[in-house]
Amino acid sequence: MIEKIENLISQAESFNAQTADELEQFRVRMLGKKGEVTELFNQFKNVAAEQKKEFGQKLNQLKNQVQDRVNELKAKLEAHESAPTGMDLSLPPGGFALGTRHPVNKVMNEIIEIFARLGFTVSEGPEVEDDYHNFSALNFAPEHPARDMQDTFFVAGRPDTLLRTHTSSVQVRTMEGQKPPIRTISPGRVFRNEAISARAHCIFHQVEGLYVDKRVSFADLKQTLLYFAKEFFGPGAAIRMRPSYFPFTEPSAEVDITCSICSGKGCNVCKHTGWLEILGCGMVHPNVLEASGIDSQTYTGFAFGMGMERIAMLRYGINDLRHFFENDLRFLKQITD
Ligand code: DAH
Repeated sequence: MIEKIENLISQAESFNAQTADELEQFRVRMLGKKGEVTELFNQFKNVAAEQKKEFGQKLNQLKNQVQDRVNELKAKLEAHESAPTGMDLSLPPGGFALGTRHPVNKVMNEIIEIFARLGFTVSEGPEVEDDYHNFSALNFAPEHPARDMQDTFFVAGRPDTLLRTHTSSVQVRTMEGQKPPIRTISPGRVFRNEAISARAHCIFHQVEGLYVDKRVSFADLKQTLLYFAKEFFGPGAAIRMRPSYFPFTEPSAEVDITCSICSGKGCNVCKHTGWLEILGCGMVHPNVLEASGIDSQTYTGFAFGMGMERIAMLRYGINDLRHFFENDLRFLKQITD
């Protein structure tokens, strides 16, 4: 009898079930009303008195062993059932993919590096600005139409507080806090109340550049921007300047670079001109220097501002600005260099 029990214990230990049915059959065969374990319990009364102790212990061990094994297999089968089909649960887990920098960040870092080689530092300013630093100190007259050019987000109930519409506001803060020579670039987020489309967004990034010292000339501006264009877009890049207007620079210009898609031959992206506009610039207006406490008789300066998403679109051949803000991994994973 004891042998039989031991035999059943080892059967229970090694029993395996592929399906819930198989497991149930096993349970019934062992623990059911007419099951082997139940039968053995029924025979307990016939066991000789001196063997009762050993028999009883073994029998309980068997019962527990069967019950444990049934519970264990049941849990296993249930876990397997709730797993999606077609999945091999015995496979080792895959590795974690490394994250990469956002393309706008990459472009920003590259721009910072290029200007650092020319001695430009990085400065930052607040995204929530006041009217003074965003407009007035930059020579926007109170009723100046240029204030309408930029659809501004104002903070509710505070007509003087706004989300900066450009990083030119950081120029003002830098000049307020430092004496020339000043050579700095200011990357950051800017906000405009624009309808979102492939070419416009209400949030985007700019880099502002500012150089103030004695005898800074328009030639310095041109050479600095040409250096930047060649460093960033390659030695074949050329720039051209077109006269423009900004309240905070005089004279002002817009700068085009050779179209990086067609190398200047003419294509859809550059509307067959061979040129793409990348930034605005000019000589800092004397009123702007004076507003920040810099003597415009002694010092001159140049400034420029460019949109980072636009530069990233040219660099990576992206045709829709919205990709930068959606954080879709299928897009981000493609930009690895
Ligand atoms: N702030 C201008 C804009 O957002 C860009 C700009 C143009 C910045 C000329 C400058 C500049 O510093 O000199 O459109």
